[in-house]
Amino acid sequence: MAYYLAIDEGTSSTRTLLFDEKFNLIDFSQKEINMYYPKPGWVEQDAEELYQKTEETMLEVLEKNNISWNEIIGIGITNQRETVVAWDKNTGKALTRAIVWQCRRTDELINRYSASFWNEVKRKTGLVKDPYFSGSKIVWMIENVPAVKEAYENGNLKVGTIESWLAFKLSGKHISDLSNASRTQLLNIHTLDWDDEILNTFGIKKDILPQLVNTAIEGGIETKFGPKIYGMIGDQQSALFGQRAFEIGDSKCTYGTGAFVLMNSGNTPPKPHPGLLTSIGWKIKDETIYSLEGSIFTVGAFFKWLKDIEIIDDYPDLEKYSLDNDNGGVYIVPALSGLGTPYWDADARGLIIGLTRGTKKENIIRAALESVAFSVRDVIDSMQEAVWTKIKKMNVDGGATKNKLLMKIQSDLLNAEIFVPEFQEITALGAAFMAAIGSENLSINEIKNLQFSGIKIMPEENEKLERDYYIWKEAVLRSKGWIKS
Ligand code: G3P
Repeated sequence: MAYYLAIDEGTSSTRTLLFDEKFNLIDFSQKEINMYYPKPGWVEQDAEELYQKTEETMLEVLEKNNISWNEIIGIGITNQRETVVAWDKNTGKALTRAIVWQCRRTDELINRYSASFWNEVKRKTGLVKDPYFSGSKIVWMIENVPAVKEAYENGNLKVGTIESWLAFKLSGKHISDLSNASRTQLLNIHTLDWDDEILNTFGIKKDILPQLVNTAIEGGIETKFGPKIYGMIGDQQSALFGQRAFEIGDSKCTYGTGAFVLMNSGNTPPKPHPGLLTSIGWKIKDETIYSLEGSIFTVGAFFKWLKDIEIIDDYPDLEKYSLDNDNGGVYIVPALSGLGTPYWDADARGLIIGLTRGTKKENIIRAALESVAFSVRDVIDSMQEAVWTKIKKMNVDGGATKNKLLMKIQSDLLNAEIFVPEFQEITALGAAFMAAIGSENLSINEIKNLQFSGIKIMPEENEKLERDYYIWKEAVLRSKGWIKS
């Protein structure tokens, strides 16, 4: 037997999953990653911890299953996107904590660039003006962290997103795949290269950036453990691939820390839409597939917050308390890190409105669930507007899809069938597929022939939910611009 290792480095934990040649999941190992919130709106992680724990999960899953490195066909990496690491090319050590995608510290910094610059950025990179993306985070590090500034001036600085950092630690090579690079705001998605004009305006020298590779890496990249990295792909694009969204218009929603709806847009970038993002889905040999994306920053993170402040004891409580209760007139905007699609308002903050003396905890919990479904509805409305087609079916994955009530609310609200695959490690599966393609052991046609079982949820008319959605949109308006008011 031979195996694939899929590293899935997500926002809250890092995992290594072991798949056999037929893509059955054999086992996995997981470690939580510490988050740091040094100031309101700031989010950091320790890049060294992140690598160390990733390596530990790799070693642990092999040891638990008594498997040696020479039984591994290849490694696929998938990861939280946009998060930036800066390191010294000589010591290989991180120079400061990683700035996580959720971090809003460059909220002001991005205002120093003109509206016409941001129009160009949108046209060239497919991404909007927002502190979410890596470009402004890199500028901030160079300007504000003395060790990064010094390394930059001395020509010793390397920066990269998480797959780049992990690949560097594993192989010594400074590389990034196109799907992750397309989330930095520095990649021209038309030429598939770093964009000199954008780099000039940001004041970022190209030599600190990684060399670009396909998501399926032909020939592979040798690691210190022996097996090669044959695939690297951002986690949301990996889920799109793992869901086998191979036809134009196929879409998926992953309910993780945030929720990310992606649609396959084929070989050419879709016409830009103000609220949506265009990214590279994947690149295999000479074929590039683009994806249209709507990003919601706070989903699982909101449920985690409800747990942290002890409104719920554990996640099953979300369904338990919501089942026989309505929202009691309560509406929640889960904008803990600002608002993404379609609002792109970094100054928005979370809001709970409609409280009365009669409000019960159950109403708040139900409102929290509905807020997620409403946020996804917003994204789907934008997508339908962008592609002029009704989305009739959507595949879903991620932790919150265990919540059948949420999935039913979602289906009713979208008036679309929802397919929840039984196998839920779709993001990691996408990376395992990518590694298998990169090592020339698998083709897309073979993936299409694999059987996926799951649950179909069919929509029903729900007038109250529809009405509530429009009331919720009023609440969104009130949460916008909050930190500036
Ligand atoms: O863009 C951020 C995204 O990649 C994070 O994904 O799974 O950690 O919520 P996740």
